[in-house]
Amino acid sequence: MPGKILIVEDDLESLKLIGLMLQSRGYQIVAAQNGPQALSKAVSESPDLILLDVMMPGMDGYEVARRLRADERTAAVPIIMLTARGQVTDKVAGFEAGADEYLVKPVHPAELVTRIETLLARSARLGPPVRAPRGKSIGFLGCKGGVGTSTLAMNLSVALIRGPASGKRVVLLDAHTGSSSLALQMGLRPQQGLQVLAGRDPQGLTADTILTYADRHVSGVLVLGGLPEPRGTVQSFTPAHAEAIVRALVGTVDYVLVDMGTGLDAVNQALLRVLDYVMVVVEPHRVSLLLTQALLAALDALEVGRHRQGVVLINRAPTSTTPSKDTVEEFLQREIVVVIPPAPELAFQSAEQGTPMVIMQPESLVAVQFHHLAQHIASR
Ligand SMILES: Nc1ncnc2c1ncn2[C@@H]1O[C@H](COP(=O)(O)OP(=O)(O)OP(=O)(O)O)[C@@H](O)[C@H]1O
Ligand SMILES: [Mg+2]
Repeated sequence: MPGKILIVEDDLESLKLIGLMLQSRGYQIVAAQNGPQALSKAVSESPDLILLDVMMPGMDGYEVARRLRADERTAAVPIIMLTARGQVTDKVAGFEAGADEYLVKPVHPAELVTRIETLLARSARLGPPVRAPRGKSIGFLGCKGGVGTSTLAMNLSVALIRGPASGKRVVLLDAHTGSSSLALQMGLRPQQGLQVLAGRDPQGLTADTILTYADRHVSGVLVLGGLPEPRGTVQSFTPAHAEAIVRALVGTVDYVLVDMGTGLDAVNQALLRVLDYVMVVVEPHRVSLLLTQALLAALDALEVGRHRQGVVLINRAPTSTTPSKDTVEEFLQREIVVVIPPAPELAFQSAEQGTPMVIMQPESLVAVQFHHLAQHIASR
């Protein structure tokens, strides 16, 4: 009963050996050489089973197992821990971290295959786990102000509802109640709703209550934007409000897109705990790249797993010396999910008329890129 197996092993020789052995028995193999890679492939590759080495530099196997179990997308995947340490305390730690099996190296290939088959048969018997339906939540976080974060969140919401999320419910939410341009950029009137919600007890907020304050954009996107009055002069969310609002919404709607603005204040830190994914918005200039580097390091320090982070490059105004995508990736040591090309005229007209770019010129290069990103998010 072959299936797809993710092998997590930092030692290349062992990785090859186990990989070839399993491949020869018909299994499809995906490999990861460290913890963060394992977490990201466990989500993107949807393996049927994970073979997890314990001793790895950086994040060890116990931590990887704990995080796999904590993430509902990977919580049910069977895990076999493979380790050189055979002490009882090691085994207990392995099971406590979430392993289903614990094998001590060197493992005889026949034993490994038997354990794999048994576990796969067991999960096939149990069937896919029954989960409450739940929407996806994505935050948009600028490396600094003015890089195009709100423009991205807004166009993406429309690209989703006009594409992969057609017929579904998409909410566009401001993380901060003041200094907001979201409603204005969408051609809507500024909304009092978030301020009202900020005055309520966060524990009592239900999706229905929250959505009564949303405005329906012509595209169908439900917008919960803040006020244009400066941040600090209007009642703001507490971190508990931000968290409660996102939690309530993902239980009801299909997509929640959050314009986080910039920085990691307490509200944004609370959001990072509940959002499925955060898109860091970057522009290809030296100062922005240095700020991005610091921001990404802070996300790591806050334990936002790499599989929950993405980087979007917005090229608002290129010069002859603008760094390329490759250069930016090399500098940040991260993959860029999508590059948004410059569209100064369209961006200007769109802001003037309060119509998102993807609606104004759906065939434009910039709109095509927003649609690519919508597909990417929908397929995660
Ligand atoms: N691809 C693009 N090409 C050219 N201009 C763009 C592009 N995307 C956004 N802009 C313009 O960049 C400016 C800043 O955009 P936006 O308000 O979305 O940024 P922001 O990061 O949310 O800013 P703030 O920090 O004020 O919230 C706007 O004038 C917008 O029209
Ligand atoms: Mg903005």
